[in-house]
This record gives sequence, structure tokens and C-alpha cells, in this order.
Amino acid sequence: MTLDTTYIRGTMAAILSVLQHSSCPQNIAFHFIASASATATTSILRATISSSFPYMNFQVFPFNDSSVSRLISTSIRSALDCPLNYARSYLGNLLPSCVHRVVYLDSDLVLVDDIAKLAHTQLGDNSVLAAPEYCNANFTSYFTPPFWSNPSLSLTFANRKACYFNTGVMVIDLDRWREGDYTTKIEEWMELQKRMRIYELGSLPPFLLVFAGNIAPVDHRWNQHGLGGDNYRGLCRDLHRGPVSLLHWSGKGKPWDRLDTDRPCPLDALWAPYDLLQWQTPFALDS
Ligand SMILES: *[C@@H]1O[C@H](CO)[C@@H](O)[C@H](O)[C@H]1NC(C)=O
Ligand SMILES: *[C@@H]1O[C@H](CO)[C@@H](O)[C@H](O)[C@H]1NC(C)=O
Repeated sequence: MTLDTTYIRGTMAAILSVLQHSSCPQNIAFHFIASASATATTSILRATISSSFPYMNFQVFPFNDSSVSRLISTSIRSALDCPLNYARSYLGNLLPSCVHRVVYLDSDLVLVDDIAKLAHTQLGDNSVLAAPEYCNANFTSYFTPPFWSNPSLSLTFANRKACYFNTGVMVIDLDRWREGDYTTKIEEWMELQKRMRIYELGSLPPFLLVFAGNIAPVDHRWNQHGLGGDNYRGLCRDLHRGPVSLLHWSGKGKPWDRLDTDRPCPLDALWAPYDLLQWQTPFALDS
């Protein structure tokens, strides 16, 4: 997970939910990625975590924001343009080579099931990552008309059954990632995006370009996403049909903001029990 002031309330809630639903919490190692330029803030965040979870095994790794800043193009939602949002593309380099597989998690979610089940997802012989796929989503809409009308670009998806997946919950084989140098492949698409606008969102489309159609499936229960509402108006969303192992407030609205302003969506009540920092955030963590 990433670690920063803006999302610390979400991060703490996510950690608590992971530990609470794990049958073997002592087997879980958390790896947090924090901005290398915010060392003072990071030590406060680190202290916040260790005082709430004194027995938890965790490490914080610094992320050089400026290494990715030059590649970021503005998106339709400014929160998506923050460099740390791109840290998920650099896990292969950021984490030690003895870390072979990770579950990447966004900070706006809670688990209500044992993360070990997700971590043990079968990746098959070739897949680098696993995530729930949504083949009913309109894949075309994630890329711009200039992208689709340029055959040398749109042919990327030829012979691939490309479906949308959400990059907030991913099981990643870091050995395969490093071996295939997928960070560079993602960066190449970001460089192209700088030159001609091929998509509108932030870190998600490059993942789709590189991986969609080649990922290992994960049951939809592991990413009930979109609970933050849509990117434009933040309307409340309901759960997708089926069982739930993970609730994800992706989208514009965040449950902590809506609860604070007394305008929660109905499902925000499921996040509230994990809100450890309810009374602390504003004064203790002001960066
Ligand atoms: C961070 O990245 C920038 C741009 O790539 C580079 O110039 C700088 O030396 C890096 N900083 C560190 C501490 O590695
Ligand atoms: C999918 O999205 C594209 C671009 O946004 C749109 O032109 C098309 O009509 C959509 N297709 C369906 C089936 O909704």
C-alpha cells in the first residue's frame, strides 16, 4: 500500500480490516511506499502505524516522486495525478528482490475476508498479475478516439480478449514483473500519453494497455469497487451482485470525507467501524 497524509485514515482502516479478518495475522508483512521527499511526514505516519499495530510486521520504502512526475499527464480527476498513485508500477524496483509476490491494495478499501485466500491466487504459467476482470464494462471508453483511430496503437489489443480491470486490488508476481521489465513498458505508454492524449484517467490505462487480456482471473468478490461514486458527481453507488470479500470506495467520494460532513452514502456505514483515526487526523498529521 502507499502511505501519505491524504489517505492515512483509509490506510489505517484497510490495515485493521486485513488483520481482523486474517486467520494468521502474524504471517502478514506490509510494505508501504511513501514519498521520499516527505521524510518528516513519513516518520509521523510510521509512528501512527506502529502505535496502533505494535506487533505488525511492516516496512516503509521511499518513492522518488520526481522520477515519475515528468511522465504524468493531467487526468480528469486531479487526485489521480499525484505521483504516489503511480507507485504501483514501480513495486518491482522499490521492494527487495526477496519479495516474490505481493497483493497491491489501494487505501480506500476494507477487507471482510482472509487476505491469504487472495494472496494464493493461481497465476498460471504466464500471468504476471491477477485481478477481477469486468468484461461487461465498455472497454472502448477508457481510451480516446485518436487512440482507436490509429491502427498502430489500437492493434495493441488485437488478438487479446481485453477487459477492464481495476488496479486498486492486484496480485502481482514480482519476479515475472522484473523479468519482463513491465515498469518500462508502462512508462513507454505514459511517454506516448504526454505526446498525444490516448486516455483520460491516471495510472489505470497504462496497466490496461500492458496487461488487459493477459491477466489471471480473480473472483469479483475481491473488488466490489466504485463505492466512492462516479468521477464527475460522486453519486452513491450500490454493491455489485454476489458475495463480498473486499469493499472498495474507488471513485470520487471517500467515506471519511462523507462521514465527516454528515452526508454519508448508505454503504459508508460498513467502512466506519474500521475508522481508527476518526479524532486524530486534522491536527496530528497536517503536513
Ligand atoms: C529522483 O529522480 C530524479 C529524476 O529522475 C533524479 O534526478 C534524482 O537524482 C532522484 N533522486 C534520488 C534521491 O534518487
Ligand atoms: C462505448 O464507449 C464508446 C466511447 O465512449 C461509445 O462510442 C460507444 O457507443 C459505447 N458502446 C456501448 C455499447 O455503450
